[in-house]
Formats: sequence, C-alpha cells, structure tokens
Amino acid sequence: MTFALSVNGRAHRVEDDGDTPLLWVLRDTLGLVGTKYGCGAAQCGACTVHLDGKPVRSCSLPLEAVGAARITTIEAISGPQADALRNAWVARDVPQCGFCQSGQIMSALALLRTIPAPSDADIDQAMSGNICRCATYNRIRAAIHDAAARENGSAGA
Ligand code: FES
Ligand code: FES
Repeated sequence: MTFALSVNGRAHRVEDDGDTPLLWVLRDTLGLVGTKYGCGAAQCGACTVHLDGKPVRSCSLPLEAVGAARITTIEAISGPQADALRNAWVARDVPQCGFCQSGQIMSALALLRTIPAPSDADIDQAMSGNICRCATYNRIRAAIHDAAARENGSAGA
C-alpha cells in the first residue's frame, strides 16, 4: 500500500505494509539512520522521533497509524532549544557508546519545548523511558539543565 508521509519537512510516498513499524521506513526506506533500534518493544527509547512535536517510539508505531502527522527525526531538529541541547551535549561530553543518544536528545527536546526550565523531577519523568546502557544519566540531566539555563538567559555551565 502507498502511504504519504511528511518527514523532516519533506513529502514522501512510501510503498509498504501498513503494519510496518515507522522505524524501518525511516531507516531502511528513507535512509535516516540516526534513529536507532534498541529493543523493538517500546521499552528503551532508542527509536524516539517526534510526531507533531511529541516524542513517540517509532519501533512500535505502525506506518498506517501515522496519518498526516509531521514526523521529525534527529537529523532535522532545529531551533534554539535544539542548538542549546547540542552545545550542552558536546560541552558535557555526554555520550559514551552513543547508541541511545539520538533518542535521549529527542526526548530532551520535547521536554524543553514543554517545560523550559525543568526540575530534576521533571527531567527524570520525561527521560524515564530512555534507557542508557552506559549509564550517562547524570550527564544527560546536567546537559538538559545547561541547555535550559542558556535558553532562559542565565549562564549555563
Ligand atoms: S527500539 Fe523502540 S523503544 Fe526500544
Ligand atoms: S551512551 Fe551507550 S547506551 Fe547510552
């Protein structure tokens, strides 16, 4: 079946089965391999993308459920919060192996767009579905605080 998708601001027509997880369309059909496969069961967050700005697990989202929603992947995030997160991630040297990190950043970006100055509890709640086998959680939390501080005009570390 043919599906019309909006991915990173571009229109695509995709031939696939309706129950194909969006993750595989992004990676295999469209070549957007920044979104990762971790568990395939909505348990780890490695496959997180935004659907109309909200974080979703693309490994568990069938193509037929996407409809007209705008899909954004790690390759196309932009704007002040995305820039602040990128800078903070680099400054804090957050990634270790890196495998989980695109999903982490997609969840962090959705958080900052909802709560511009999140508390530790806000961060822990928003990021609780993103697993990091390298346990970079403390650096992730610090980087989110830095990005929020920079965005809100105070001196982030
Ligand atoms: S690969 Fe989708 S949540 Fe783990
Ligand atoms: S940096 Fe290795 S899994 Fe998170």
